[in-house]
Amino acid sequence: MDRKEEALKLLDANWTGRFTKPSPNLYPHQWNWDAGFIALGNAQHDLSRVITEYRSLFAGQWSNGLLPHIVFGPPTGHYFPEQDFWQSDRSTFSPKNVQTSGITQPPVHGFILKRIYDKHSEDSDFIAFLKEIFPKLVKLHEYYYRDRNPLRNGLITIRHPWESGTDNSPIWDEALSAMQIDKDALPDFKRKDLQNPKAAGHRPTHEDYDRYVYLVDLFRRLDYDEEKINEQCPFQIVDPLFNAILTWSNEAIITLGDILQMDYGELIYWNEQTIYSMNELLWDEQAGIYHAWDAVESKKIEVHTHSGLMPMIGGIPDVDQVEQMIRRMTGPNFKNDETYYLPSYNLSQSDIDHEKYWRGPIWISTNWLIIQGLNRYGFDELADEVFQDTIELIHQFGFYEYFDPRRNVRNNGYGTNQFSWSASLYLDMLN
Ligand code: DGY
Repeated sequence: MDRKEEALKLLDANWTGRFTKPSPNLYPHQWNWDAGFIALGNAQHDLSRVITEYRSLFAGQWSNGLLPHIVFGPPTGHYFPEQDFWQSDRSTFSPKNVQTSGITQPPVHGFILKRIYDKHSEDSDFIAFLKEIFPKLVKLHEYYYRDRNPLRNGLITIRHPWESGTDNSPIWDEALSAMQIDKDALPDFKRKDLQNPKAAGHRPTHEDYDRYVYLVDLFRRLDYDEEKINEQCPFQIVDPLFNAILTWSNEAIITLGDILQMDYGELIYWNEQTIYSMNELLWDEQAGIYHAWDAVESKKIEVHTHSGLMPMIGGIPDVDQVEQMIRRMTGPNFKNDETYYLPSYNLSQSDIDHEKYWRGPIWISTNWLIIQGLNRYGFDELADEVFQDTIELIHQFGFYEYFDPRRNVRNNGYGTNQFSWSASLYLDMLN
């Protein structure tokens, strides 16, 4: 069987009839940004599955617009935290017939649906579906600008590392370690992710999980009240990757709105604010990369990861800035003769861990994003180099969750295998 057939088979195997599991064991429910990336693969062969997947995800949308990071299927007992732990029915906004988490994830859906539309603009069922989902997309983006925009400058904050999608990125280290946790006051919990033998050694630490749980417990104690969370949450960070994804999706929603002749409110105004503020507050001219911002401490987080290169996708930097970013990306911090593109963390940092989740390994999703960013600015040769590396990783090792950036490592795939977005983005890239 060739890899393309394997990818299709994998997506079939992880399909539940309502949504696609990111992987059979480690992630048994529907995840927000995974659902978007997975839709791109399914769009190659089964548009009705894309529509069902998206209807399931948006059935979990809260009435204030928040699109949760997990929409749960039936409890499995194999994942922590499941619906019982989140207690999202404490919120007046959560849907009462669908079980969800109470935090969000990067809003990829605008640009993903636009990409699918570009290939299927004649499909009347898909257009009807787009018209159905469009107001929900706008409501999601309005939620960010209303409730996650503390400085009113268009920079959106995340309030939990899980909201970033890059759970244990070194960007969060300082803010997490500054959190004073009374372990005795934490609710009882038992991690399930360590039961997966292949992934166990690469997962976040127990100290990380204490903080993850502390934050969830805080949110549910506050009944998911946005104002109270904004006042009391010790972790509020502006992440370049999250904001770049938001910006690209804003742009796509504006374009789709014009095509469909549907209302997108104040989005043009807010998008300009985000772009302006990212360049004002997050651009590091000397380093040629964007950094994150700690909105609680009002200070830069000068930890450079691949997140700082992502603003290209949203057209945020000008061409001079992109040239500087490319020098950074192709230089020793992110590339050398012995490595593949694009490690999630700076190769020359002493605390890089090539095997550990978001602290060094390569991810297919972020490689896919950087390819789109480079193409946007016409750096097609470099985009092709990243593309070739990405395809080589999959051809050699399979559909792992993440990969070692070092070329001389033999068993290079880490985390869970049978990982849906690795398969679906591979299918998208081949087309
Ligand atoms: C996990 O459980 O590892 C997820 O990334 C949280 O969303």
